[in-house]
Amino acid sequence: MIPPIPQPDPMPLPAPGWLLWALLMLTFLLHLVPMNLVLGGSILGAIARVRSRDGERPHEATLAHLVVKAMPVLISATVTFGVAALLFLQVLYGRVFFPSAIVMGWWWLSVIGVLILAYYAAYLLAYREDRLGGAGTGLAWLIAAVAGLIALIYGNNMTLMLKPQEIVTRYLADGRGVQLNLSDPTLVPRHLHMVLGALAVSGLAVAVVGVLRRKADPAFASWAVKYGAFYCGLATSVNIFAGLWWLAALPREVILQFMGGNPTPIIVLLAGILLTVSGAGALVMAASGRQPVLAVSAGVATLLTGIAMMLLTRDTVRNVSLAIAGFQPATWTAPQWGPIAIFGVLLVGAVVTVVWMVGALVRSPKTSP
Ligand code: HEM
Repeated sequence: MIPPIPQPDPMPLPAPGWLLWALLMLTFLLHLVPMNLVLGGSILGAIARVRSRDGERPHEATLAHLVVKAMPVLISATVTFGVAALLFLQVLYGRVFFPSAIVMGWWWLSVIGVLILAYYAAYLLAYREDRLGGAGTGLAWLIAAVAGLIALIYGNNMTLMLKPQEIVTRYLADGRGVQLNLSDPTLVPRHLHMVLGALAVSGLAVAVVGVLRRKADPAFASWAVKYGAFYCGLATSVNIFAGLWWLAALPREVILQFMGGNPTPIIVLLAGILLTVSGAGALVMAASGRQPVLAVSAGVATLLTGIAMMLLTRDTVRNVSLAIAGFQPATWTAPQWGPIAIFGVLLVGAVVTVVWMVGALVRSPKTSP
């Protein structure tokens, strides 16, 4: 007999549930943007590095160099905002998130080790790029592989935590902490969706860099807008199928609850698809040379809003799945407004600092090889 999910924690929530949820959505969105640039940007950077090895593609060499310079900042932003999201995730879903992390404990803990490895590789590339030769390409691919692996490990935990009963049976069968959730039919499409989304966001970022450098380096700027638009458009087109595959792979009861009754989740999902596709479309317009600044700005606004909609859809799937499994959110709250206010101030400070650092890096003339 499988024991039921324990009832809400014996401690009150430190803030109203709606506020914790809103902060989880906000901090996860803030995690998602740099994380996408690490995951997709490391792949685009490694491809550009390979293609520019013969010395005949100077724009690709510039792009590979820009990626290398930005990577340490992007990894630290990913980790910082990831920790913030983790705070709220564990408060709201700790009763399923921690048991699921225990079942795959060694994989979960390995994230720290491989992340440090990627960090060293990123710093080595950023400061010794000119002296590394062919080893630099190896390091660029190592960072991409580590980012992909971490995303996969997170995906395993985020999918396993939705099946509390399975967590129990798995733990009873093998409590060594070496299991993954690879047999879950949603895992592969979910991971594919994340990686393709990261490539699209990184393509968008390349186009943004192009627009920002249009006065300093017009030839690179026009190439970057086209290159970024190509990857963003391609990844987004394929991602429509990955997203539909993910939706179709969800358990039947989840799909029925998602589709039936309240129309809001469907509207949000359709808005997400429409906005992300329009974002990629705006970039394709920019690549054709018509009003590139306006078109890239429209691409940024629509794609990011679309991603926010997708994030809400992912949250609905989580809540529907957990509700079906018998998970009840905690309702006992005893707000601690002082720490929450300090968190708010520091969060704003962190966002401003990261935006300033990335902007300074992109504009810096020293980032040209
Ligand atoms: C390069 C490093 C990282 C990459 C590539 C990465 C990637 C991802 C991906 C793909 C997801 C979504 C998984 C899914 O739903 O299927 C995710 C979620 C998450 N990540 Fe990261 N991550 C990284 C580092 C971190 C770190 C260091 C932390 C915190 C210590 C963190 C905290 C989180 C949290 C809390 C979520 C789930 C948020 C939610 O479900 O609402 N991540 N990450």
